[in-house]
Amino acid sequence: MNKAKKAIAERVPDIDVVIEMLDARLPASSANPMLAQLTRGKRALKILNKQDLADPQVTRLWLDHYNAQPNTRALALDAGDRAPTQKLITACRDLVPARGGLDKPLRVLICGIPNVGKSTLINTMTGRRAAKTGNEPGITKAQQRILLADDFELFDTPGMLWPKILVEEGGYNLAASGAIGRNAMDEEDVSLMLLNYLMRRYADALCQRYKLASIEGLQDIDVLEAIGRKRGAMLPGGRVNIQKAAEVVLTDFRAGATGRMTLERPEEWTEWLKTAREREARRQAEREAREKEKQGKKTAE
Ligand code: G4P
Repeated sequence: MNKAKKAIAERVPDIDVVIEMLDARLPASSANPMLAQLTRGKRALKILNKQDLADPQVTRLWLDHYNAQPNTRALALDAGDRAPTQKLITACRDLVPARGGLDKPLRVLICGIPNVGKSTLINTMTGRRAAKTGNEPGITKAQQRILLADDFELFDTPGMLWPKILVEEGGYNLAASGAIGRNAMDEEDVSLMLLNYLMRRYADALCQRYKLASIEGLQDIDVLEAIGRKRGAMLPGGRVNIQKAAEVVLTDFRAGATGRMTLERPEEWTEWLKTAREREARRQAEREAREKEKQGKKTAE
């Protein structure tokens, strides 16, 4: 078990609420399935962070989606929020009204994939008011206890390793957001997948950003080339520098320069997940069939 997983597994039995920070532009893709496994049955608060970059209407859909789940609350935040602590404490108290007071402090674990904005939020919340008491005996060194109120303890966890990414679209969305390192996936592929989605959902904003007359009937690669041309990303001989164009698209998206956009909706995710699971089951069946055939051959020999 890796360090972060172990730290979470050790802490979970004493925890009242598990906060998972998600990227509001890709809530489902930025959730860590390993965390769901480790914290099954616990009350959950989903924070849709970086809401300033996400499509507000789709954020609403996601909030409704999570709030409809048992023992779950969701709230949207961003680094500009002036009172995140109060919102977070109120949501957690709502989830576990029976706890609170000095004899029964509320114990909350906060997790999130790297780059989701966890340090930024914790720094905003701690400010001068809270005490950091990391490295106390009995607590895994990698964890940190933060007192947000006299009877409210927040345990910070280190970043968790990625489990295998099952949903292909989710992998691309993570890469588009910048959560997966630059070298992990081909930037051109990532920008094409991103454009493909934006062309369907945010065509007007895309045209406006890159001063394109219309993208109707165009393929993603045509749009990427058009963006490259508009931005002067050219190679000698008049060809478009596709790598440069891809960087422009990704940098703009990550900074929110293309507009407030979200890369997945609850019902889309359900479909993607279903397809991915079916594909995985098919692969598994094929693997087993191959294995059986091999065994059969061995026995015959
Ligand atoms: P982490 O601890 O979860 O790994 O994330 P961290 O707080 O370091 O934040 C990762 C990046 O996301 C930082 O940008 C941070 O400024 C940015 N960020 C955090 N919260 C928000 C938010 O609500 N909205 C937006 N738009 N951005 C947010 P960076 O480019 O890595 O660093 P810098 O901008 O701080 O220099």
